[in-house]
Amino acid sequence: MTPRGTDVDAVEKERERFIVTQTVLAPVPLLPNILLYQATSLSPLWTESQEFLERHELDPPYWAFAWPGGIALALYVLGHPETVRGRAVVDFGSGSGLVAIAAALAGAASVVAVDRDPLARTAIRLNSASWKGLVGVAAEPPPISRGDCVLGGDLFYEAEPARTFSEWFRTLAKLGAQVFVGDPGRAYVPQDFRCVEELEVPTMPDLESRDRMLARVLTPQ
Ligand SMILES: C[S@@+](CC[C@H](N)C(=O)[O-])C[C@H]1O[C@@H](n2cnc3c(N)ncnc32)[C@H](O)[C@@H]1O
Repeated sequence: MTPRGTDVDAVEKERERFIVTQTVLAPVPLLPNILLYQATSLSPLWTESQEFLERHELDPPYWAFAWPGGIALALYVLGHPETVRGRAVVDFGSGSGLVAIAAALAGAASVVAVDRDPLARTAIRLNSASWKGLVGVAAEPPPISRGDCVLGGDLFYEAEPARTFSEWFRTLAKLGAQVFVGDPGRAYVPQDFRCVEELEVPTMPDLESRDRMLARVLTPQ
């Protein structure tokens, strides 16, 4: 059965409350103009909120962090606004919405932030509230056309999905889309993508057991 309008609103409100109470609104390292609802440390959110995540059958809270691959890609887009300016942009595996927001700031014509996790989609809506008319949120990517730009921050941490994503990105590039991914050396990053930028980004030691990582921006073109 499909929930009625008021039920949908109530679920969304509960998710918003969860995000706002479990995180703090804080600037992203190296990107002081972008404020996101972020976990201050991994453990409370991952453990204390386990019950909420399980009750709602939700994924681990990837949306509560600005991942190093996403930070690198957001910096790249802002440093090279021509990659997105005037284009329809899709941020695949958007998490917090970081890369989508960077694309909006850099002058994209429209942005769709795609994430399969419903809590991430709520977080993206909260984080991108200032760009409401420009940044849309979806569970699945829209059809991609020649000249569109597809971005993906920190996606290559599991073998099978990484293979699927890499293949999709190659296909989109062949169709004439601009594709860029940000990656800090995850195990399943595609080896045939070309590096367009390499930079050191801050990370949360709770997540990565170190406070800086070398991240690369890659393209299948
Ligand atoms: C490590 S997080 C990266 C988030 C963000 N791009 C960043 O760099 O900060 C990966 C995100 O990809 C999303 N994801 C994984 N598989 C997906 C799929 N098949 N479709 C859409 N989103 C997916 C997860 O829910 C998660 O939010």
